[in-house]
Amino acid sequence: MERCYKHPMATNIGIDLISFHIPSYVLDLSVLADIRGVDPNKFVIGIGQERMAIVPPDQDIVTLAANAALPILERAGRDNIELLLFATESGIDQSKAASLFCHELLGLPASCRCLEVKEACYAATASLRMAAAMVAARPGSRALVLAADIARYDLASPGEPTQGAGAVAMLVSANPRVMALDPESGFYAEDIMDFWRPNYREEALVDGQYSTRMYLSTLIEAWNRYKAASGRGLADHAHFCFHLPFTKIAYKSFERLCRAEGAPRPEPEELERLIAPALRYNRQTGNTYTACVFEALCSLMDDPPAPLDGQRVGMFSYGSGCMAEFFSGVIQPGHREHLFTDAHRGQLEDRVPVTYRQYEDIFNYGVPTDGADHIFAPYRGGPFRLAGIKDHKRRYEPR
Ligand code: COA
Repeated sequence: MERCYKHPMATNIGIDLISFHIPSYVLDLSVLADIRGVDPNKFVIGIGQERMAIVPPDQDIVTLAANAALPILERAGRDNIELLLFATESGIDQSKAASLFCHELLGLPASCRCLEVKEACYAATASLRMAAAMVAARPGSRALVLAADIARYDLASPGEPTQGAGAVAMLVSANPRVMALDPESGFYAEDIMDFWRPNYREEALVDGQYSTRMYLSTLIEAWNRYKAASGRGLADHAHFCFHLPFTKIAYKSFERLCRAEGAPRPEPEELERLIAPALRYNRQTGNTYTACVFEALCSLMDDPPAPLDGQRVGMFSYGSGCMAEFFSGVIQPGHREHLFTDAHRGQLEDRVPVTYRQYEDIFNYGVPTDGADHIFAPYRGGPFRLAGIKDHKRRYEPR
């Protein structure tokens, strides 16, 4: 019999503030369907995606993450931030942590541990847990967790319509204003090859059907361990946020959970209430890898079907390769005043649509690899941009 897992959290610890940032350009998947000769309903209904975020050449994971974090720091200050974790699977350097670039851009204190954390899409969940553990061990300290990714698959591959990009930043503290993490978790690890990106490739390789099967089977493994640790059942959660390589998987996930629990299949309206609010943003951005499950939380909190104060949300994080974790948290009374809802909605509404040709040009934009001086033309975007590369060094600047 395996041990049940409870994180050692003496006090109330969790997400104090959470903010999300997406690139300013977007491709409508009806445009892609037309070019690829696919029925648009395959994308909209079959996999549940409508648009994908397009990252201009002067944005990367560093700028996306710094853009997500700045509003949090402007509101909450920088004092006592002793840990900066950057979760990503779109790394820009094999050695230097992306968090160090953000540390400089964001003006964080020098006495702050900066790391990059990798395990496919799972790394942000692990980072959140590690950040909470540090806060528990050092009362008064705070941590910043960044999750940023650019999902790229080969052109015309099955994964292409699920591409996307975005970043989430979370300030982790005691007595959080947004979500207190429950101490119980259920997690599961297995060595498989369902999705990976060798160092010599820009695009991920994926066996999508296998990955979906593994996602669903590890969901049950993680859920069973979470249930044993917490004693909670499905009905103890007001909503569920799932990792979203594409939004249709959330429906498959919940149905699988109901089957595993011997619970009746929910009525369609009930299913919509439980699941759909967390999917709205991802349908418009595409896969944001490490940021997905927290983007789903933003989507739910920004437009809930009923007030969430005091409600428990179940969260499932899956990283190919594979790691899975089911955990939960309680949305804090008064949390709405601390959200960045208008900024999130504004970003989604203000995006510039691109044509198929522009999408392909941006997709194929080659960043020089010979150290030659390269200046990036300014595109629309958040407060920070990638200005250039010289001597193999990236140079970032405020816009
Ligand atoms: N109208 C409505 N639905 C349609 C349709 C149409 N015209 N045509 C197909 N569909 C449905 C299919 O029935 C299927 O639904 P189901 O899964 O409920 O059976 C769905 O659309 C997808 O069709 P399928 O033929 O399975 O798609 P695909 O082979 O092109 O691949 C993915 C779909 C999701 C596997 C692929 O996009 C992928 O690999 N994505 C990447 C996933 C990933 O990144 N995983 C790793 C991290 S978790």
